[in-house]
Amino acid sequence: MEKYFYIVFLENPKNGIDNLAEIMEVASRDYGCHDIEEYVMEQREVDSVLGEKALVSDEIPEEVLDKIEKVWKQKEKAETKFIFYGKNAEDRAEKFNEYIGQVVNGFNHHIEQKKWEDWNTKWRRYYSPIEISPELKVYPVWDMKEKETEDQNIIYINPGMGFGTGYHETTWLCLKIFDDLLKGHDDISGECLDFGCGSGILGISVIRKLGIPVTFCDVDVDAMDNCLENITINFKNKAMDQHSLIIRKRMNKAKKYKLIFANILQDVLLDEKVFLQDSLDSDGYLIISGILEDQCDTILKNYNRLELVKEEKRNEWRALLLRLSPRKNK
Ligand SMILES: C[S@@+](CC[C@H](N)C(=O)[O-])C[C@H]1O[C@@H](n2cnc3c(N)ncnc32)[C@H](O)[C@@H]1O
Repeated sequence: MEKYFYIVFLENPKNGIDNLAEIMEVASRDYGCHDIEEYVMEQREVDSVLGEKALVSDEIPEEVLDKIEKVWKQKEKAETKFIFYGKNAEDRAEKFNEYIGQVVNGFNHHIEQKKWEDWNTKWRRYYSPIEISPELKVYPVWDMKEKETEDQNIIYINPGMGFGTGYHETTWLCLKIFDDLLKGHDDISGECLDFGCGSGILGISVIRKLGIPVTFCDVDVDAMDNCLENITINFKNKAMDQHSLIIRKRMNKAKKYKLIFANILQDVLLDEKVFLQDSLDSDGYLIISGILEDQCDTILKNYNRLELVKEEKRNEWRALLLRLSPRKNK
């Protein structure tokens, strides 16, 4: 069966749209929009602004971004792109397009359906290695050199439809907390659950760094396919030796984990709070991400059997490291 992703285009002319920041927040929060491209310029225009910085780094300096913004603002006509894929993508994109119609006055907007196969060719040039620290790096699979596959500091990801590439702040924050845990010499033995695994980037990092068994779980079969592909890329024929990949509804409720990642939107985190807290082993860690600054309190109130160890932030996103509280679980 042919697979698709959807882009909602919003015309964003010279003087801009006043409430664009709010629209972008609503897109991610309420409609599960995965990517937003704010400055839609022809690639050659971007490259001419970036000059030699094009494609050499994922950290584009502030002054270069300012320059891109300036060039963009001089354009008579520009567009913001909202990209949707995965479960119910068409429905979410359509509803978001309707929402835009209600909150934006007089600016053109429309949806386009794109073929899944076009994804990699179009987006490939944007993926470069990501370094969380010298001990934890994420490379796109096309950078893989045979001899590096056993390097304990590198994992490889085929971004596929982008089910978690490390570029998104929420994934980056999970990897950062995990890397810090390793540096704090926390002894994490037992098993790990990568809940909402997407590409598998988080669980694959755990296998690479700790070698403990990981359960990958998602609701989206396409994400699970991409996850299995990535596990195989990283560990070849040893791929599923001690790990498992399980659809959410088949998860074993009685099993306990020493480390759980849950990088999902707030609504899902609230729906899954009993399962996630029940699944945590004594002195285990839960890393929660996918939440915005003003959602932290609600999460902490609902995850009331756990205590906050630390909070990490990147732009408007927050991630929490939580642990079972002996005080609250007497
Ligand atoms: C933001 S992505 C995170 C992907 C990856 N773990 C990362 O950190 O980059 C959230 C993932 O959670 C999955 N998901 C949504 N609801 C879920 C649920 N109730 N149970 C398990 N997975 C869920 C989605 O399909 C998606 O793959």
